[in-house]
Amino acid sequence: MAEFDPRLYGARWAEQYDEFHAGMMDDDGAVATLSELADGGPLLEFGVGTGRLAVPLAEKGHDVVGVDVSEEMLAQLTKKTDAVTTVVGDMTTVRIEREFAVAYIAFNSIFVLNTQQDQVDLFRNAAAHLRPGGRFVLETAVGATAKPGDTSRFKVFKVEADRLTVTAGVVDPVTQLYTGTWVVLEPNGTKFYPIGGRHVTHGEMDLMAQLAGLELEHRWSDWQRGEFTGNSTMHISVYRK
Ligand SMILES: C[S@@+](CC[C@H](N)C(=O)[O-])C[C@H]1O[C@@H](n2cnc3c(N)ncnc32)[C@H](O)[C@@H]1O
Repeated sequence: MAEFDPRLYGARWAEQYDEFHAGMMDDDGAVATLSELADGGPLLEFGVGTGRLAVPLAEKGHDVVGVDVSEEMLAQLTKKTDAVTTVVGDMTTVRIEREFAVAYIAFNSIFVLNTQQDQVDLFRNAAAHLRPGGRFVLETAVGATAKPGDTSRFKVFKVEADRLTVTAGVVDPVTQLYTGTWVVLEPNGTKFYPIGGRHVTHGEMDLMAQLAGLELEHRWSDWQRGEFTGNSTMHISVYRK
């Protein structure tokens, strides 16, 4: 299965991203918890996008640096504020000559990376940017592993009088690569918003963290710090250096 080009995401999504994702995630809960974990120290976001979390964190007075591979996504962020320091770069290799209290990656963005090695490199890069005792926080859906013979995914997301929004994709059970697209069908045409990358489970993340010299401190089912159970659909994992 073809690997996903990371720059395609921003090129297709940037203009619609905020409207499309409004209200989908607990932004206020994320900002409150990240703010508390940073305890007044600087924060670094990988895959910052249009600044869904970085902008309100900066508006609360935090020193926030946001890295993204997409200039289109960062252009949307900088329209809102100049309080976030933005860096165009790849989250697996970017180097910012500072130490942070918290590095974080939100909204499943670890899944945009195509290989296990890239994901390990992200953990290592996050650890390299943390001061001793600093934290790496991930907000992630519980990784969708493909069952044998059941590799396709399809969901009707929203039905409106003149618009149907669906999401469709396939997971490769060998590589854990997901190749998908959101499709918006309207009377005057159809638009495609591709997504893709490698799904990874929380257990595999714990091993990646160990390789990077990080230790699991918390795993919650949401930003309200609910218990993570077999029924949880997402997790907030906090690793400590
Ligand atoms: C799902 S969006 C999340 C945006 C934002 N963090 C949020 O929570 O709304 C994923 C972001 O990761 C960026 N991205 C994809 N691959 C990347 C890479 N290798 N390095 C840095 N950013 C990347 C995309 O351009 C996009 O802005």
